[in-house]
Amino acid sequence: MEITESTIQSDRRIKRPSGPLEPDLLKLGNTLVTKFHVLMRISQIYDSKNVALDQFIKESLQTINTLIEKEGSFSLKIVKDDLFLNDQRLPYSVEGFTSFKYLLTQWKKRFIGEVIFNGPTDEGMLREFIYALINLEEGREENATLFSEQLANLGIFMIEVNPLEVFEEEEGAVTLQKEDQQEVGKKVFFETVGTIKEVITNIKAKQYADVRKLKRLAQKAVHLVMADESILLGMTTIKNYDEYTFNHSVNVSIYSMAMGKRLGFFKKTLTELGITALLHDIGKSKIPREILNKPGALDDEEWRLMKKHPLVGVEIVLNLKQLGEINPRMVIGVFDHHLKSDLSGYPKLFKKKEVSLFGRIIQIADSYDAMTTPRIYKKTPYSPEQALAIMLRERVVHFDPVLLKIFIGLVGIYPIGSLVLLNTHELGIVYKPNPDPEFMDRPIVILVARTEKGDVKKEVVDLTENDGKGHFKRSIVKTLDPYQYHIDIAKYFL
Ligand SMILES: [Fe+2]
Ligand SMILES: [Fe+2]
Repeated sequence: MEITESTIQSDRRIKRPSGPLEPDLLKLGNTLVTKFHVLMRISQIYDSKNVALDQFIKESLQTINTLIEKEGSFSLKIVKDDLFLNDQRLPYSVEGFTSFKYLLTQWKKRFIGEVIFNGPTDEGMLREFIYALINLEEGREENATLFSEQLANLGIFMIEVNPLEVFEEEEGAVTLQKEDQQEVGKKVFFETVGTIKEVITNIKAKQYADVRKLKRLAQKAVHLVMADESILLGMTTIKNYDEYTFNHSVNVSIYSMAMGKRLGFFKKTLTELGITALLHDIGKSKIPREILNKPGALDDEEWRLMKKHPLVGVEIVLNLKQLGEINPRMVIGVFDHHLKSDLSGYPKLFKKKEVSLFGRIIQIADSYDAMTTPRIYKKTPYSPEQALAIMLRERVVHFDPVLLKIFIGLVGIYPIGSLVLLNTHELGIVYKPNPDPEFMDRPIVILVARTEKGDVKKEVVDLTENDGKGHFKRSIVKTLDPYQYHIDIAKYFL
């Protein structure tokens, strides 16, 4: 029998289906969040009669009424740190992240948890609704009731609001506004993916790219990696198929920085390494999309172009506007990232040289991330431990063996994000390696389970935990393929 997430979690009734949203609906949901974000922002600048609002109101209405046409009515609801459109979770997206964050924070501050549109809405209603919402006093728990009364007084019955649901483990909604490190991690991750996208788009359009923003983000990431590397390492499990280039650059940067930390790099060097890794494939921005996304094998000419990307990358980096932010170590790192230890990689060299330290670090991070991510020409990627096994086999010719050892120490012998079967018949996702090297085979895992509402439940267990009778409570039996079990690993790290 095929085991799926829902068959493992006993017979509990799931009220909230969490299957994928229909692509159309997902797009509309994301647009809706962005529109609300813009409207709330603008309404804080202009008064409700201002014509500057007209266009935005019209555009938002279009989205709202399209949703009404499709669904009859719709609800946008906050559940913990997620937004649900008609009981389906809207996944975070790179473009939508800022709007998501804004809406969550602003609604939570006002104790508003759900907005329901029960039918077609017009300009007047939407205007009143937005201004009433933005004018609610922050921190007042009875806001939803007051808001409903206000709407009723205005004769608006199409729009309904409900209070924010506060979950037991949270001490009131207000504390939610305090961003914890996990939240900062998410923000830094998505912002960096977005910024890399911007940089690549600018370079494609032959415009200058701004690296100062990348630097600021790399500094934040260094700070996080120093505090707790597992936060950002967890984010690398987000394997975004469509956004490969951007996610890949960020992942390689996270792995590289975490390795640099273990090598005892100073913060400044770590930041430089982080930026270099972010830019390592920047040369690919000059390679035609058809070649990058070609489902089959590349022909000779295509390979010739592909192999140019490290050198083209160097050229791009040297042409950056803020060249002052770039030093030779970084340029060489970009040049070296496909050389391999025995120099069998590319570009071909006239004279033998040693692969630079930045280059050697990035090579390991790059290979691992590339192997574990689904690509158009390899839809089912290698599992984390398969990838490590291949890299270990090739270590002498391709990688720096000492650095590879550090990398394995970092992701663990059961790498972060691996799906494992435990002797208790539970499924676990490896969260981080055990800090005690003696227990390399006993990582910290998240048990795969869901709450009654169908949300991902994050129960973190340490596999060194004892049952009191001298036995381990749980042990790993074997690793499993998450694709076969339809488990979205990244969800457990968000
Ligand atoms: Fe590359
Ligand atoms: Fe790469």
